[in-house]
Amino acid sequence: MLVYWRVFAFLALLFLHSRGAMREKIVDFTHHDYNAMTKILHTFATKYPSITKLHPLGESVQNRILWVLEISDNPGVHEPGEPEFKYIGNMHGNEVVSREILLHFIESLLDGYQRNDEEITNLIKNTRISIMPSMNPDGYEQAKTVPRNDESERCTGVVGRRNANNTDLNRNFPDQFDENKAAVESGLQKETLVVKKWIDENPFVLSANFHGGSLVANYPYDDTPNKRSVYSATTDDDIFRKLALTYSSNHPTMHLNKAQCVGDNFKDGITNGAEWYSVTGGMQDYNYVRSNAFEITVEVSCCKFPSESTLERFWKENKKSLLEYLKLVHTGLSGFVKDQKSERGIEGAEINVLDRNHPVKSAKDGDYWRLLVPGKYKVKVSKRGYFPVTKNIQVNDGLATKEDFILQPIGKMHLKQDEGSTNLQEVLLEKKPVPVGLVIGLTLVCLIALSLTLALTIMLVSKYRNRGADRKAQYAAVHTEP
Ligand SMILES: *[C@@H]1O[C@H](CO)[C@@H](O)[C@H](O)[C@H]1NC(C)=O
Repeated sequence: MLVYWRVFAFLALLFLHSRGAMREKIVDFTHHDYNAMTKILHTFATKYPSITKLHPLGESVQNRILWVLEISDNPGVHEPGEPEFKYIGNMHGNEVVSREILLHFIESLLDGYQRNDEEITNLIKNTRISIMPSMNPDGYEQAKTVPRNDESERCTGVVGRRNANNTDLNRNFPDQFDENKAAVESGLQKETLVVKKWIDENPFVLSANFHGGSLVANYPYDDTPNKRSVYSATTDDDIFRKLALTYSSNHPTMHLNKAQCVGDNFKDGITNGAEWYSVTGGMQDYNYVRSNAFEITVEVSCCKFPSESTLERFWKENKKSLLEYLKLVHTGLSGFVKDQKSERGIEGAEINVLDRNHPVKSAKDGDYWRLLVPGKYKVKVSKRGYFPVTKNIQVNDGLATKEDFILQPIGKMHLKQDEGSTNLQEVLLEKKPVPVGLVIGLTLVCLIALSLTLALTIMLVSKYRNRGADRKAQYAAVHTEP
């Protein structure tokens, strides 16, 4: 009997232990420096190989790796029709809360998938999610050297804010209103170049980057042509307000209409970037102006480098906002742009919502996403070599309204569609159709010219003949004289 009890107790212990191990979290509520963060990211990638891929995207000035953990049911590739989303944390090295909450967010997604949580599993199956917990690892290593008891420097200071080359990364992107910044790429820092390339080369639809020192969701534009701090609206202001409000309203205190941090007071916890203060070379504007992605900038803590005891609270405060904001990538309008003849997707077609003047481009497989608030829109899709298509579309609330655009090619499309003929085909496609009016006009001009020439010829010929007759007469007159 005793033996049975012992075996039972052993099995029970084993069971409890294994359950405990399963539940053991990878990320704890401490600050994670570069080495600790790197270790955690590798652990995620090892523990969840089928739904993650860890990308060493590039290097910082001091050669630390800018890690991106990708989460998707098919990591490493863009799947046709699946929107891409990104979060970037710790852009200013001393604003560290986002680095921690993004690590916890990654774990909640991976754990949710493992537990078969329906919502999270659906998100991972239908979205390519990329998370960079730290864009400025060099700055972080400097910031962490500030003594813990120097609360004023830790909370409101600037040690570690910039990268190791003394540059503020959120002032370092090419800017639409500042020609010097837009033109001089050599001034871009290593970290900026890495992230810029990432933005340029992937069809991101939605993103956010995180900061500290305030509590607000900030949306484009971040500056004005004359650098004054006034409201600087994009033509997509309604969407940006919705994006920012989704973050702030799902946060327990950000949306409250009273000052959350010393000196701040934002209605509903959101603000237009330039209205708060004008920033030249910000990352969110670069995303919106130069790529398809809509990005906002979220300030998640009054104190930039708070004590570890507050980290669990910060995670709990932001957990729902992080998830709800991510879900917005599946709203608005989406679908495919396709070639009518070959039925293939058309890359680089412009999807232009009329009156917004902010076209997005279709991705490699012809897939496109256009964030919009619910409403009626006139949407024009065009691509060189095709007749454009315009449609009136009702965009609904909730999941994205699906609409495909089938474009009819202009010109000789009977050419064989093999790789070698692509260039030739491009050239042929670029031939514009000859307008009927022009043909008729030219024909008329030719006819008139021809008749004029004819008339002139007849005139000349008859004149010459007459002259000839005169001469003959003269000659005859002279030579018939005796
Ligand atoms: C530091 O920044 C300057 C431009 O501001 C750049 O020319 C230089 O190459 C950068 N140095 C490093 C190590 O990235």
